[in-house]
Amino acid sequence: MPSRQHFNSMKYNIAVIPGDGIGPEVTAQAKKALNAIAGVYDHTFIYKEVLMGACAIDKTGNPLPNETLAVCKKSDAILFGAIGHPKYDNDPSAKVRPEQGLLKLRKELGLFCNVRPVKAYDQLIENSPLKKEVIKGTDISIYRELTGGIYFGIKELSEDGKIAFDGCSYSVEEIERIAHLAFIEAQKRRKKLTLVDKANVLETSRLWRKTVTNLASQYPDVALDFLFVDNAAMQLILNPKQFDVVLTENLFGDIISDEASVIGGSIGLLASASIGKENALFEPIHGSFPQATGKNSANPLASILSAAMLLQHLGLFKEAEAIEKAVEKSLELGISTEDINTENAFTTSKVGDFIVDYIEHQQESNMNFINIHMGQSTII
Ligand code: IPM
Ligand code: MG
Repeated sequence: MPSRQHFNSMKYNIAVIPGDGIGPEVTAQAKKALNAIAGVYDHTFIYKEVLMGACAIDKTGNPLPNETLAVCKKSDAILFGAIGHPKYDNDPSAKVRPEQGLLKLRKELGLFCNVRPVKAYDQLIENSPLKKEVIKGTDISIYRELTGGIYFGIKELSEDGKIAFDGCSYSVEEIERIAHLAFIEAQKRRKKLTLVDKANVLETSRLWRKTVTNLASQYPDVALDFLFVDNAAMQLILNPKQFDVVLTENLFGDIISDEASVIGGSIGLLASASIGKENALFEPIHGSFPQATGKNSANPLASILSAAMLLQHLGLFKEAEAIEKAVEKSLELGISTEDINTENAFTTSKVGDFIVDYIEHQQESNMNFINIHMGQSTII
């Protein structure tokens, strides 16, 4: 992931968009983790909370109020929860929709590069519906183009409502800027880049292939290969270990990243970063999960890991690592929400408490929490 580097104690402005559904609950845990980091490593995070999504429509009529956009533009980083509400999902004729807020924010801030890491945690190897020998050791970084393609093309509906149209376009420039970042990421990892497209059918995909192939000579140490998206969808669950960095356009990236989340055992673990030239946004990929709203049961780890990606982006690498270690420890000890720990589930906020405690006390908290864990049924 592209990032800046800082070594001293720093002050950062973080725009926080809790959003809808479980967004506020999980974002609160990520903020707790960031506050613990601030305390231990002597940084200052100044949060400004703003509205987006269904809650913004309810309060202002606009899924992305101007104030939200302005606060986000001025921020060093944006921490985002989730948006969406069933009342819009079931109403295809709704003119104003929560998702428009997020799409507009991505476009206005130029967040063209979406990074979604997919990892099979050893601690959760039994949780995935896929065989453990298939997923063990999987470590993929998906680079999804985020501000172009069919999401942002011309949309039309004929007057009689019988024909709909969604246009898909890409320019060389749009392809090159994310491709460079994907190549650079591959150089830092296992030096393999797979372009996922549908070049046997789509003109835009043929432009992706040509453009990415032309860039490859600048990165001679990276092995570039290509897969059609239908085959990629199959390969991802047949043999996920073959992938290192996956580069793809907007819609394909949306679909294959949800599919890839199965590898990790829970979609509640998948974090993401959306990077532009000036701004960057960090969010869990799981969405608003309306059924779990307000129940203190949703998995906060994807949001907490998104906060770790935020720290990485700010150049705070050891701080990011401290969060990642705490997350791994929580998984190892089974201090997990019901999506992972079906027998003896911890609440959203209890998982957040553990992460905070581990960041603050590292080794000793191990013991505390092993005790709490063992005695959990009597405590909770
Ligand atoms: C995602 C989501 C969004 C998308 C929705 C909420 C518009 O599914 O971030 O993957 O399709 O990009
Ligand atoms: Mg999606």
